[in-house]
Amino acid sequence: MKRYSVVICGGGSTYTPDMLELLVMMQKPFPLKKVVLYDINEERQRIVGEFGEVMFREYMPDVEFKYTLDKKEAFEGIDFAFVQIRAGGLDLRNYDEKIPYKYDRIGQETCGAGGMAYGIRSVVQMIELVKDIRRYAPDAWIINYSNPAAIVAEACKIVFPNDKKLVNICDMPTDVLGRYIGYIGKKKSDVNPMYFGLNHYGWFTHLYDKQTGEDLLPELLEYVHTHYDELHKEREEAIRGPEDHWSITFLAHLEMMKDYPFYLPNSYNLYYLYPEKMKSHYSLEHTRYDEVISGREKNVFNYCREITALGKMKGTKYDITDRISPYTTVEGDLSSETIYSDNDVHAAYLVELVLSIVNNANAQAMVMVKNDGIVPNLDPGMMVEATVLVGKEGLIPLCHGEVPQFAKGLLENQYACEHTLVEAILEKDDQKLLQAFAQNRLVGDTEVAKKIIAEFKEVNGAYWPDFK
Ligand code: NAD
Ligand code: G6P
Ligand code: MN
Repeated sequence: MKRYSVVICGGGSTYTPDMLELLVMMQKPFPLKKVVLYDINEERQRIVGEFGEVMFREYMPDVEFKYTLDKKEAFEGIDFAFVQIRAGGLDLRNYDEKIPYKYDRIGQETCGAGGMAYGIRSVVQMIELVKDIRRYAPDAWIINYSNPAAIVAEACKIVFPNDKKLVNICDMPTDVLGRYIGYIGKKKSDVNPMYFGLNHYGWFTHLYDKQTGEDLLPELLEYVHTHYDELHKEREEAIRGPEDHWSITFLAHLEMMKDYPFYLPNSYNLYYLYPEKMKSHYSLEHTRYDEVISGREKNVFNYCREITALGKMKGTKYDITDRISPYTTVEGDLSSETIYSDNDVHAAYLVELVLSIVNNANAQAMVMVKNDGIVPNLDPGMMVEATVLVGKEGLIPLCHGEVPQFAKGLLENQYACEHTLVEAILEKDDQKLLQAFAQNRLVGDTEVAKKIIAEFKEVNGAYWPDFK
């Protein structure tokens, strides 16, 4: 039986512990030979690495587990690279979000001016990382989560046009689906979704029942609209406080569904369609960055440190034995709901794709892929997020069909902006940089764009190319 070797790039990411746990839980359907963490930050990675050592020693002692800063050691002989790096770290995320607020623009990790600033750093580092991985592992699958994934995917399409095993993904579509599908008594795994858009800017257009082939989206929309007041109240009540970002987001999402009562939208559409509302949740002093620092960042590292200090998980409150056993009896079932129950959607979605690859199951998934006619009335070169079949040899896109002018107009503007930004990065072209910022609908003014760019240049230093 084939056993797989995996590297997680961004070993010190807050998402790595969940991913490692899920790999342990999935040991039967996805047998492992080696798991390596790779990062450029020794300290962050060590905290996660020490936790991983405890867990693998206890639950999978026959798997080689290590963490390293050395590329050769990290990438040689691997079958899969899972990438979740944050170029420039959280310190620069803080600027991505705060600088736009100075100009009364929304500051967000992946959208608007902040998303573009981050995009520039990410593209530079991702290109280098992909080249490094390919040097040592030419046939490995590279599955990238690093944001802003739309911009990273656009750059990868241009720089690595023939790389069939380089895939950019996002967990938001599957997360959105998971938050609604229960309303009609179904699970995510009951439906084959059709989805289109750019990353963090898209819509579900059909949810086909796997058994009957019936499109369940009309029923879901009908449910949402007839139960709107009740759902709204539920979502309001679910908000635990001003820092409960996702509950606040999904209340706004429901409100968006009332205004646009067709399709099931991605939650990130909110930033483009309701910039004022979304901006009002934060300020120059307090953005999502501050919540991540005091929340996920702290919790994840404390979790790791606690387990490292205990030196064990078995027999403690962290024991995952019970969560492993069901998976070891499940074979060939690719649905996340049956394989695991309470793990992070981020790790879960990745593992779903991996299982479809190793089993050549050709399961449907939503990933970033070159349009090439998937949506015939959008630019064929556009890196869309759309439904594909995932198998051993790569991705097989499913034809979506034309989309309405409303979505087409929004997406074409954003794509022009992302494409121009990538050209600016690759050509180090200052004029294209200005064009990209100025045409972004969350910036929308050339004088503001110039000021924001000047500030970003200052704080990003060598993380940005030397634009001329
Ligand atoms: P984080 O800052 O906590 O962790 C990122 C890690 O990457 C850090 O340990 C950092 O040192 C490391 N790193 C930075 N540059 C690197 C490089 N060039 N090579 C190797 N390692 C490098 O960030 P996080 O919040 O855990 O998120 C990680 C990434 O995943 C981010 O890009 C985030 O936006 C992305 N993400 C994407 C999705 C999605 O849907 N696509 C979902 C969740 C997170
Ligand atoms: C969702 C998005 C990601 C984003 C993540 C975390 O999963 O799809 O792209 O990185 O949320 O965002 P946060 O603001 O919590 O760091
Ligand atoms: Mn995402």
